[in-house]
Amino acid sequence: MPTLITRIGELTTNVVSDRDPCGTAVDAAVLLDEGRVVWTGPAGDAAARTAGLADLEVVDAAGRAVIPGFVDSHSHLVFAGDRAAEFEARMAGRPYTAGGIRSTVAATRAATDAELRLRLRRFRDEMLAQGTTTVEIKSGYGLSVEDEERLVRLAAEITPEVTFLGAHVVPPEYADRADEYVNLVVGPMLDACAPLSRWIDVFCETGAFTTAQSRRVLEAGIARGLGARVHASQLGPGAGVQLAVELGAASIDHGTYLTDADVAALAGSDTVLTLLPGVEFSTRQPYPDARRLLDAGVTVALACDTNPGSSFTSSMPFCIAVAVRDMGMTPAEAVWAATAGGARALRRDDIGTLAPGARADLVLLEAPSRVHLAYRPGVPLVHRVWKDGVEVG
Ligand code: NIG
Ligand code: FE
Repeated sequence: MPTLITRIGELTTNVVSDRDPCGTAVDAAVLLDEGRVVWTGPAGDAAARTAGLADLEVVDAAGRAVIPGFVDSHSHLVFAGDRAAEFEARMAGRPYTAGGIRSTVAATRAATDAELRLRLRRFRDEMLAQGTTTVEIKSGYGLSVEDEERLVRLAAEITPEVTFLGAHVVPPEYADRADEYVNLVVGPMLDACAPLSRWIDVFCETGAFTTAQSRRVLEAGIARGLGARVHASQLGPGAGVQLAVELGAASIDHGTYLTDADVAALAGSDTVLTLLPGVEFSTRQPYPDARRLLDAGVTVALACDTNPGSSFTSSMPFCIAVAVRDMGMTPAEAVWAATAGGARALRRDDIGTLAPGARADLVLLEAPSRVHLAYRPGVPLVHRVWKDGVEVG
């Protein structure tokens, strides 16, 4: 059934023009049909455009704003347990180390498929209610062939954007034998997980995997037809950004500590830098300077990195608010980064915009403009959500 959303006060299409990367229209309308955007234009033209359409559903936006659905290109949703005590200790001054990952691995290995599936669906619904219509989901809390295969299989029930992150950390049974663990990751584990995954990822950081180990992991995944993504420069500067650019990764994620050479390499590349404001928020690390990156010409995406350790938010509006308040982004840049930027980070051209032909994934805000997402932090402004042209919830 076609749907017309009309009297939109401010429509963000992300259809780029020289003057406006957000492709903004006022007093606009959008026509959806068969899961796609069919037309956008002035509300005054909507009656003529829809004349004769059978079964047309008309939604009166009454001056509210419409934006593309959020594209959350980085999450770790398949896990059991939580680490609230670790967060509490951090807020009392303890630093974040990635060491807590191992406790989530133990809890996840002990959980049944049914438990993990139930949690995944809850997260998916929680995200949809906050306007996220596409989510990437990583494995990485299994770290055995059997458990990683289980995690990518469960993630694939929720999203086509599944990432194999067997190289998250070295599991305890391989302590002091990291290279042997990498052999497992690029061998039997990749064999089991590649058919169910679109992406390969590695945590390239002191305490996780070295640059040489990370290269092995990424090259093995690329050789199997997977796209590359990299966790890097989260805890300190390192070589992960340069490696990601060299290997043509779709995205390098975190980038809390970037050198000038990293910024220059990113600016001349097709690799997106995905910033994760929830991480700095909940680890009390310094926020990266997004202004520096944008001014240098780097393509920036925003994502939640939902996980029980470093960032347990699933709210893209929250990330937008923090990026604007503390990272130097304008509201327009932050909304673009959370929609079109996420789509670029996933190398998708069917989402992240409301161009005719794009998937009909969109959000009607309880607000007259997208600026309110940062201006009214913590307020549930996501009013109605459509995914593939169907209203959710
Ligand atoms: O993206 N950096 C590595 N992995 C996650 C954290 C995982 C955890 O602490 O459980 C991240 O921040
Ligand atoms: Fe992550």
